[in-house]
Amino acid sequence: MCGIIGAVANTEVTPLLLEGLQRLSYRGYDSAGVATITATGIARSRAEGKLQNLINKVANDPLPGHIGIGHTRWATHGGPTENNAHPHASDKVAVVHNGIIENYQELREELAARQVRFESETDTEVIVHLITHYINQGMTPVEASRKTLARLHGAFSLGIIFKGEENLLCAARQGTPLAIGHGKDAMYIASDALALAPLTNQICYLSDGDFAVLHSSSAEIFDASGNKVERPIRTSAVSAAMVGKGEYRHFMLKEIHEQPEVLGDTINALMHPGTGAVYLPEMQIDFAKINRLVIAACGTAYIAGMVAKYWFEKFSGLSVEIDIASEWRYRSAPVEKNAAMLVISQSGETLDTLEALRLAKKSGYASLGIINVPESTMAREADAVIFTKAGPEIGVASTKAFTTQLATLAALALHAAQVRGTITAETQRALTAHLREIPALMAEALHAEEAIKTIAYDIHTARDILYLGRGTMYPIAMEGALKLKEISYIHAEGYAAGELKHGPIALIDEDVPIILLAPPDALLDKTLANMQEVAARGGKVLLISDAAGVARARDTAAWTITMPACDPFVAPLLYSLPIQMLAYHIAVLKGTDVDQPRNLAKAVTVE
Ligand code: F6R
Repeated sequence: MCGIIGAVANTEVTPLLLEGLQRLSYRGYDSAGVATITATGIARSRAEGKLQNLINKVANDPLPGHIGIGHTRWATHGGPTENNAHPHASDKVAVVHNGIIENYQELREELAARQVRFESETDTEVIVHLITHYINQGMTPVEASRKTLARLHGAFSLGIIFKGEENLLCAARQGTPLAIGHGKDAMYIASDALALAPLTNQICYLSDGDFAVLHSSSAEIFDASGNKVERPIRTSAVSAAMVGKGEYRHFMLKEIHEQPEVLGDTINALMHPGTGAVYLPEMQIDFAKINRLVIAACGTAYIAGMVAKYWFEKFSGLSVEIDIASEWRYRSAPVEKNAAMLVISQSGETLDTLEALRLAKKSGYASLGIINVPESTMAREADAVIFTKAGPEIGVASTKAFTTQLATLAALALHAAQVRGTITAETQRALTAHLREIPALMAEALHAEEAIKTIAYDIHTARDILYLGRGTMYPIAMEGALKLKEISYIHAEGYAAGELKHGPIALIDEDVPIILLAPPDALLDKTLANMQEVAARGGKVLLISDAAGVARARDTAAWTITMPACDPFVAPLLYSLPIQMLAYHIAVLKGTDVDQPRNLAKAVTVE
């Protein structure tokens, strides 16, 4: 993954490229670079670390030029050093690349045999040298690029510029997204429309196998067979305004606090304005006719799918298989008749989820996506889509996207139950009413933040933390552990509380805090019994429950967080808040980079 951008215009492009890179830095932020074509050749500037390092470097040593490319990196091949930062270049060509060239080793050996000297450890550099080789053989830049593309295996998108060509930008897409922006006397490329928002809202997306030849006033696109094709130009709805942190110290904190509002927006869009019942008139999947729902997703979105399994099976009787997208797509799961595939993704670009969607479609599954970014590849490719209304999520750790996914899945499970006739109208009304209470309950739950800060102080020095829950709280325990790991770098695990005695109990001592998610549901007694088992072994428990649950356990728990009382159906939504706030405040105390934690990126467009 990585973000790429390019521009061919009648004005200086470096400032445009740098602003675009700022908007793309959610895709990777371990190094960045830009290159332009000047009257004398290729000018290039690259810097290790955050984009600001590159901005400072360019401020001291500006890069002139009306054509250029830029890159913000998430390292795959080769560490995050300046040498491995893009653009990669020879004396004739500069390239930015998002994705992975799978046969780079073989190409590298072939080029090395021709005495080509490599400057980096990246897979990308083979592209530069292959194009250069073909140009040296007498091909035009366009011919050399096409010949090179035909030799590359893997998933990639590319931007290419050439010495002596001040009005030619080539681009290609194979597997990872690439948008073309049509400006006034300017053409742009970028990994997403958000990066181009200040420059143009006229966007077209390349399809897989496409190759584009851009001049400042024209764009020609060729498909994988070399035929000239038209790709529709759409007016993008993405706002040019940079999303800001407002009064908050971090995007993550702002996004945690936005949840009552975005949950309200998401839930309202799924309800009939008159009856207040779940209302999905455009749902193309007939849940009465399918006998299995397969859910594939990654990370936090996968955990949302785990919660959904409990809801679908309980309310609609529909059998649900949930799998990590990168596993499902390679494990030859039998294709079942009358099954549908549901993918869940904030970005709509996660490569493993996208490929699971494509494989499912090829295998004949009806497909449905729950997606946050409307202009994403998955949103374009799924047969049916429900959009979460989380708005832009900038913090790398997912918060509001997760809870809006949960709300959408809850509504979808009720819809399935309704069309399958497995719940009465009365039950559906009651459950829907509980869902509608969520924004208000979340607003109340946010008041626990001060108490959570104090607890965060007590446990932020722990080396390991265990999260436990039963039923729908089991996935929420996993989500709590994932949030904590990714932003505080503390090792954490989420377990089904009943599983404790089958191994993890051996870890318990006074230095391993246990976070127990125990809303007042049918399993509360069993969960509290697990708490006693932990306490009996010297373990310190943080109990998260409502006032009644807390009252029952006050003497045993070392710490408690009190949530507003809620119906067990919606508890996964509400109980997500304290675990998000806890992870956030622990990470702040540890002094980590909360919004851009090490080694991570927001959209994972590589396998
Ligand atoms: C964790 C997190 C990741 C994403 C995962 C899938 O906080 O954000 O685990 O959930 O990379 O991303 P999307 O939802 O964009 O497919």
